[in-house]
Amino acid sequence: MKTIIFASRDIKKAGELIKQGELVAFPTETVYGLGADALNPQAVKKIFLAKGRPADNPLIVHIADKADLETVAFVDSWQKELVDKLTDKFWPGPLTIILRKKPMVPYETSAGLDTVAVRMPKNKIAIDLIKYSGCPIAAPSANISSRPSGTCFEHVLEDFDGKIAGIIRSKQSEIGLESTVVDLTTKKPHLLRSGGVSYEDLKTSLPDLDIRNDLKGDVAKSPGMKYRHYTPEAKIILFEPSADKKIQSMAKKIRSEGKKVRVIISRRDLKFAKNLFKVFRQCDKEKVDCILISSTDEVGIGLALMNRLRKAASEIVR
Ligand code: TXA
Ligand code: MG
Repeated sequence: MKTIIFASRDIKKAGELIKQGELVAFPTETVYGLGADALNPQAVKKIFLAKGRPADNPLIVHIADKADLETVAFVDSWQKELVDKLTDKFWPGPLTIILRKKPMVPYETSAGLDTVAVRMPKNKIAIDLIKYSGCPIAAPSANISSRPSGTCFEHVLEDFDGKIAGIIRSKQSEIGLESTVVDLTTKKPHLLRSGGVSYEDLKTSLPDLDIRNDLKGDVAKSPGMKYRHYTPEAKIILFEPSADKKIQSMAKKIRSEGKKVRVIISRRDLKFAKNLFKVFRQCDKEKVDCILISSTDEVGIGLALMNRLRKAASEIVR
């Protein structure tokens, strides 16, 4: 298959492809997404195939307007106030909300669940693409399953050139980590994935917010959490808590075995988060064998960072 590269002025044509049931990768403010018509089961199946994604891992449905939430999800009366509060404050933006799904959302999209994850992105290209497509867009991160999420056009091309109908070329994703996922279907709202909206910010709107699932890495609720994730070719060793001396001496030892080592000192800031997946992919290009990476406090963006690092790590040195 020849993959068409679209400039941002060609979004309308990209939307036509989505309408026809094809896959188009597109930028969002978090990471690039691999999009398909969320209401078309055949189109959605192509996403799972292209990514090599396990069929039990549901997709996020992206909408261009807050009012479209209720076309794909039920907002029950007891949830209304919470949903309004969250969407007023965080949409458009990096927050995904889980609600009961409407029947028009196929089980291919929700991976057999009766719930659906919904997000209204902020990125203008993403919004325009949804509008031109005339349907909500199901989109996981644009990367082959288990690889670091694509945050630059080049990463998406690397993983999907020749495998999907189109890619919209744009700049590096501003946030660089995926959206925060919150489940509103239970009595107490649950944080299932930390991301672009911090736990602290979310907590101001949801005082009852529970993060147990996320912290323990409990797999039950968000199916995607049980899989190995975000991994470059290099073996990642995470030092938790951080221990500079230990890192340096291990780096020395591995180098003495003739292997290529990269030491990454984590910083709890937005720039570090933005570039994390890019750096992982860079290590692959440079044929790094082993990445030694330090930890950071689980505050603000640090919570999402540590979640990604733990999932990417093949070993944690405590
Ligand atoms: O920032 C993002 O969220 C990006 C951009 C493209 O929007 N998308 C993204 O999608 O990261 P993905 O598929 O890589 O991650 C979606 C996560 C997975 O962990 C999945 O299991 C969870 O959301 N999820 C989706 N639907 C769910 C549902 N109904 N119940 C529980 N978890 C759900
Ligand atoms: Mg993903």
